[in-house]
Amino acid sequence: MWAYLNADGDRNGIREISGHGQTTLHTRHEMIEHISSHQQPRRIGLLTAGGDCQALNPALRALTLGASVTHGWEVYGFKDGYLGLQEGRFKRLTPSHVAGIQGLGGTILGTGRGRSDTVASVEEAVARCREVYDDLGLSALICLGGDGTQRFARRLYEQAGLNVITLPKTIDNDIRGTDVTFGFDTATHIAAEAIDRLHTTASSHHRVMLLEVMGRNAGWLAAAAALAGGADVALLPEIPYRLDRVVDAIKDDVSRGRSYSIVVIAEGAISDERAASGEPVRLHRAAMELVEQLPDLTKAEVRLTSLGHVMRGGSPTSTDRILASQLGTRAIELADAEVYGVMVAVQGAELKPVPLSEVGGEPRSVPLDHSLITSLRAVGTALGN
Ligand code: F6P
Repeated sequence: MWAYLNADGDRNGIREISGHGQTTLHTRHEMIEHISSHQQPRRIGLLTAGGDCQALNPALRALTLGASVTHGWEVYGFKDGYLGLQEGRFKRLTPSHVAGIQGLGGTILGTGRGRSDTVASVEEAVARCREVYDDLGLSALICLGGDGTQRFARRLYEQAGLNVITLPKTIDNDIRGTDVTFGFDTATHIAAEAIDRLHTTASSHHRVMLLEVMGRNAGWLAAAAALAGGADVALLPEIPYRLDRVVDAIKDDVSRGRSYSIVVIAEGAISDERAASGEPVRLHRAAMELVEQLPDLTKAEVRLTSLGHVMRGGSPTSTDRILASQLGTRAIELADAEVYGVMVAVQGAELKPVPLSEVGGEPRSVPLDHSLITSLRAVGTALGN
């Protein structure tokens, strides 16, 4: 414990009082050194980068409160992801900035992709981040993002030596190293609700309703939404579809007495022919082609709904809020323990630090033996193969 020394009339020193009541006199110079090395609050930076998703705000709330209230650290939020870090655009975050934001969609910090116009190369962007980090006296930087964010965070850690920790966010649920990302549950809920609504109108008109959902590289959203909403067909990027199988599945519905069909299509789905010819995936193409092809082939009226960015907007579910808060709390624990260069991942019932070197790279696909796939097959949802 440190206490000012006034009792002896010596205003130029302080007395250190040990646990045994012994005292030691320190000079003013020693006192300043002590305060600057021990009393200066740690400063940490936060940013949200890449496409937004739900539950970024509850994560920022948990991070800000954990850092400032539990540890007394100063928190700085960078505007618009790595752009704000490169350009030195930030604001101090205090508990009042994050009060009541747990149900708010989007991100109070804003987000962004790519590098700033003010730098000419990725290397320069990394160097600028280092300068701003140093100028602000940060001791750690916590980055919330998807694949691209994780890769740039790895550069900041490995090439610039920043003390980086990341959280996995994306509605696509396709980040390696974690069982789940926040945003996924809310987006699945939105898609399932859309399927519920399509059931009633499809049934009234005896139509085939196509629902395109996001999921650029992976079919987690399409699979989960199809199971939750009871779709008849689900087309995922992982399983190139055969057009004749899709047509058969729709005709089967009719032969089983159903007068309508619901087909869920991931935006990155691809036909077996295009996949076999090595064509790259083109977003939205599968849905656009099927809405043209299916009327002739099924003799039914076909309508297409594309959910798009509706899936990323609005209030997060409780599940996402809780997950994002828990991940934020764990990130602060790791920062306190000075464990850096990691993403906080969900693995089973645990929240574990996973090295950033194991996170970037190829997106995490839905394994073909995953219980989502098994369950879809078991309830009779056709997967187009
Ligand atoms: O990465 C998430 C995601 O929602 C993808 O599914 C989608 O292709 C992409 O973002 C669209 O992002 P934006 O329109 O913001 O560039």
